[in-house]
This record gives sequence, structure tokens and C-alpha cells, in this order.
Amino acid sequence: MLSYQHAYHAGNLADVQKHALLAWMLDYLGQKDKAFSYIETHAGRGLYDLSGPEAAKTGEAAKGIAALEARLPAAHPYRRVLDLTRAESGASAYPGSPLIALRLMRPFDSATLCELHPAEHQALVAALAPLRTAHHASARVLKEDGMAAALSLTPPMPRRGLMLIDPSFEVKTDYERLALILPQVARRWNVGILALWYPILTDAPHAPMIRSLRRSFPEALTHEVRFPPAREGHRMVGSGLFVVNPPYGLHDEAKRLSALFR
Ligand SMILES: C[S@@+](CC[C@H](N)C(=O)[O-])C[C@H]1O[C@@H](n2cnc3c(N)ncnc32)[C@H](O)[C@@H]1O
Repeated sequence: MLSYQHAYHAGNLADVQKHALLAWMLDYLGQKDKAFSYIETHAGRGLYDLSGPEAAKTGEAAKGIAALEARLPAAHPYRRVLDLTRAESGASAYPGSPLIALRLMRPFDSATLCELHPAEHQALVAALAPLRTAHHASARVLKEDGMAAALSLTPPMPRRGLMLIDPSFEVKTDYERLALILPQVARRWNVGILALWYPILTDAPHAPMIRSLRRSFPEALTHEVRFPPAREGHRMVGSGLFVVNPPYGLHDEAKRLSALFR
């Protein structure tokens, strides 16, 4: 059932959009002394090797982070995490969202990560092991369905915080399910920042979901970037991040990122 492997796509243009905005939001949350929670429903393996056969096969990272990194400001939290990850794990290492989060969180913040695929879950636990020190936030890693966990884990303590929902959309009903789940999560956790990533495919299966979510959340931020398909016949031509309760300044950051993609 679970055949998607993020190793083929790590560091691609969609990851750059998602990870740059995620890092910016976590950095924003970390600027106050108050602790925050981070929940991730579809975490992936946490650490990727961009010199590995998967990245070489698709060439997506070469057109993604390798092409855009130098255009991001040097002090951007995403670039800071990239530098830290390479210093620790080697020049071709790339951080997935769980690693980005833990690198930007403080020891008193708390993280809960869900990954259902057994091998990805195991790799995630291993990737986080070096961060299990007094200098990092504590992370619970669950082998659970992230969609169900989005509800069962909310509202978290502390209530201040962020949830990233980043499904692989292998199950086509995910779009309809998410249009229903997000409002339920927001009712349970009305102060939480809820960030939903989605692919923009040529036949736009995301469109009804986003229309419905915009009706439910008129104040949310919808940030979309377009890019050429990774290879001929590839259906992904862009990606989006829908953010409920966007933190102050995120609109400007999203505009800066759009300019970079243009
Ligand atoms: C797009 S990848 C995650 C990438 C990661 N968020 C990042 O940015 O580095 C989606 C992940 O969700 C996992 N997955 C698929 N269905 C799931 C489910 N129902 N619950 C939890 N994880 C699931 C897949 O195994 C895959 O690792």
C-alpha cells in the first residue's frame, strides 16, 4: 500500500518551498521564550543522501535545492539547518522536515512525529538518535496513521505551536479527507498553526480541496509556486502550502520565496 519513498524527491523544488516556509515559521515560534509544540503527521525518514541512487535517478534535488540555495539569504533558518546537517552528516546530506524542526526547536519545546511506513519509521528513529541530547527538543516518534493522529494529538501541550501535514497523496481520497479533517483539527486546536502541503498536478486534483478549505478558513494563507515538470510526462507542475493561523510576517516571507522561484 505504502509505496511512496521521499528519497527520490528530497530537496526538489516542492521541498524547497515547504522547507523554507516551515523553517521560517519554526524560527518565528522560537523567538519567544514560551515553549511550543510541533506535530508532524507524515514525517518521512528525516535524513536524505543527495548523492544516493534515488536522488541520482530523478535528478530532482539538482534542479531544486542545488539550484536555489545560493539565492536564499545566508541567515535564513533553512540555510542554517542545511549547514548544520552537512557539518554533522556530510556534504551530500539533506534534512527532512523532522530534522529541520528539531534543529530549530529548543530543549523545552516538544515534538511528535508520525510515520507509518515501517522502514521509513526505523530510518527516522535512527536519524534522530544523534539529536537525543540535552541541547535538543524531545521527540516522540509514532508508527501511526498521521490522518488519525492529527485529531488524536490535538490540542497538544503546550498549545502554542505548529502542525505540518505532508501526505504523499497516494490515496486519492486524501484530498476529500483533508478538506474535512483540517476544520476538525482547527476546532480542537484553535490557536495552532496548521500547514498543509499539496502537489499541483496537471489535472489539479487539489483544486476542490483548496476551494473547500478557503471557505472554511477565509483568513488562511495559500502559497503556490509553479515549476517545470521534473522530467517529460511528469505530472507535478507546482506545489502549495495552505496555512491556517499564519504567523505575522509569513505573507511577506511567502512573497520573497515566490520571487525566488520566478
Ligand atoms: C511526502 S513524505 C514526507 C516528507 C517529509 N514531511 C519531509 O518534508 O521531509 C510522506 C510520508 O508519509 C508516509 N505516510 C504515508 N501514509 C501515511 C499515513 N497514513 N500516516 C503516516 N505516514 C504516512 C510515507 O511513508 C512518507 O514517508
